[in-house]
Amino acid sequence: MSNPKLAEFIKGLPKAELHVHIEGTLEPELLFELAKRNHIKLKYPTVEALKEAYSFNNLQDFLDIYYEGANVLQTEQDFYDLTWAYLQKAKAQGIVHAEIFFDPQTHTARGIDFATVINGICRALQDGEKQLGVTSKLIMCFLRHLVELSAFRTLDDALPFKEQIAGVGLDSSERGNPPSKFANVFSKAQAEGFKLVAHAGEEGTSDYVREAIDTLKVDRIDHGNASVNDEHLLEVLNAKRIPLTICPLSNKALKVVENLECHPLKKMLHKGLLVTVNSDDPAYFGGYVNENYEAVSKALMLGQDELAQLAKNSIDGSFLTAAEKEKYLNSIEHYCASFV
Ligand code: HPA
Ligand code: ZN
Repeated sequence: MSNPKLAEFIKGLPKAELHVHIEGTLEPELLFELAKRNHIKLKYPTVEALKEAYSFNNLQDFLDIYYEGANVLQTEQDFYDLTWAYLQKAKAQGIVHAEIFFDPQTHTARGIDFATVINGICRALQDGEKQLGVTSKLIMCFLRHLVELSAFRTLDDALPFKEQIAGVGLDSSERGNPPSKFANVFSKAQAEGFKLVAHAGEEGTSDYVREAIDTLKVDRIDHGNASVNDEHLLEVLNAKRIPLTICPLSNKALKVVENLECHPLKKMLHKGLLVTVNSDDPAYFGGYVNENYEAVSKALMLGQDELAQLAKNSIDGSFLTAAEKEKYLNSIEHYCASFV
């Protein structure tokens, strides 16, 4: 980025990441290592050839490659290694707290036990807290291209691990799979005490965002870009303080926006919405959270105050307790006051 001072400010800025798919942090090098470990033959002969395939015209192009990549994840240790690699990266980027998605159906459909997946991830999260001081929560996503019955089965699988899962979410192919398709399973998840989030308004219209709020009763919207076209919805999001987890480099890579200069983030931020900046699937979209902050700061000409507001929003929009939020918000204030 052209402004090294701002890059330095971003690097040390304490922040939370609220929208990252653990399967989307699988770097090509680790993917090859796990393929070798598990004796899996890959379609691509080299890391470079695989990276060349990372060129997408839309969400589905990406999802096809992302689900294929996840096939190398087989054992508890694989899920541990994947999560541990992300947490080290997060620590290096000033992330103090991460709320991480995982897609159990991607793995259980291949015969991997739910317990294998969650035990590997959670062991790394515990080590992340102990060894790196990065706190975290886990959010289980239902794949929206599958039927609701499959989501119900997954929720049943999750109940013995309830203590380890903070919330449920909804991801995968958005168009044609509206939030209302999952109204019953979200209602059950709410009754079980899970927080609720859903991807909406990434490729879908603002109606999907409305449905996620009105029908699914979500606490947070993932992406939500399409809300910008609907002034009334923006007012609702603002009045209810519903956070939006925006993923700029993902939006660019999947052509949700033509370029970052026309990204709605700045308009939303200036309207006072609880918008946050996140990486989504950093191994596939060319950057972790700091590269996302840097890219929007450059394209939308955001200064230190606006970047600090985004970091504060990430804490405010998290599922931490009020006392935990206060501690992290104070550390942001302190950082900003002492940064020269
Ligand atoms: N959108 C929908 N599903 C996903 C995404 C996304 O950006 N990343 C991983 N699964
Ligand atoms: Zn996502």
